[in-house]
Amino acid sequence: MVNDKMIKDKILAPSVLSADFGHLADDLEMINRSEADWLHVDVMDGTFVPNISFGFPLMKAFRANCSKPLDVHLMIVHPEKYVERFCDAGAWSVGFHLEAVDDPLPILDLIKAKGVRTCLTINPDIDVHRLIPYLDKVDMVLLMSVFAGFGGQQFIPETMDKIRTIRCEIDRRGLQTLIEIDGGVNTRNARALYEAGADALVAGSAVFGAPDPEEAIRQMKND
Ligand code: DX5
Ligand code: ZN
Repeated sequence: MVNDKMIKDKILAPSVLSADFGHLADDLEMINRSEADWLHVDVMDGTFVPNISFGFPLMKAFRANCSKPLDVHLMIVHPEKYVERFCDAGAWSVGFHLEAVDDPLPILDLIKAKGVRTCLTINPDIDVHRLIPYLDKVDMVLLMSVFAGFGGQQFIPETMDKIRTIRCEIDRRGLQTLIEIDGGVNTRNARALYEAGADALVAGSAVFGAPDPEEAIRQMKND
């Protein structure tokens, strides 16, 4: 299991889904200058979720222009067909949805064989206990705090208890598995999420829609 010490206590991963793709280089420069830890990359296939985002050509642009690790979140059916290509495209971690597959273990092995960190994700309607058998088999679990598919949705408050449930289990077993939260994160709820036991927060609209995105990142990490 890979767990670098470059991982800090409070990880903030802006979601490039909310960037201005007409001025992508400027937005990525802002991320590079900022205190952001990772760049979260939301890949949507129009089948697992009712929206289509981007694929390999943009991964290449992110890799070439972003100095932060790429945290890839696959919202796709058949992730087994694509995880290796995302690893080869420069992903620092690759995550896919537990509810999108029959057996996540062989897919996790494909990612691990590339030396890339693994993440298992669930939507808000999936029982959080379904992640428990995999906690010692992944580097990170991602709990969706909105339904995957779109940026700019409202945070689902029930996520707080799910974070505590998983935090408790990780600590009880002495694991290093990270907990990431994705959806509706902003400067008002970030602190409570870290306090409940989240290690990493994804924020799209709260970063790129802010009057001062760098300051929004700073606030979410430090306030
Ligand atoms: C939703 C994506 C999220 C999204 C977050 O399907 O997985 O990463 O970009 O956007 P906000 O922070 O605006 O809810
Ligand atoms: Zn995401």
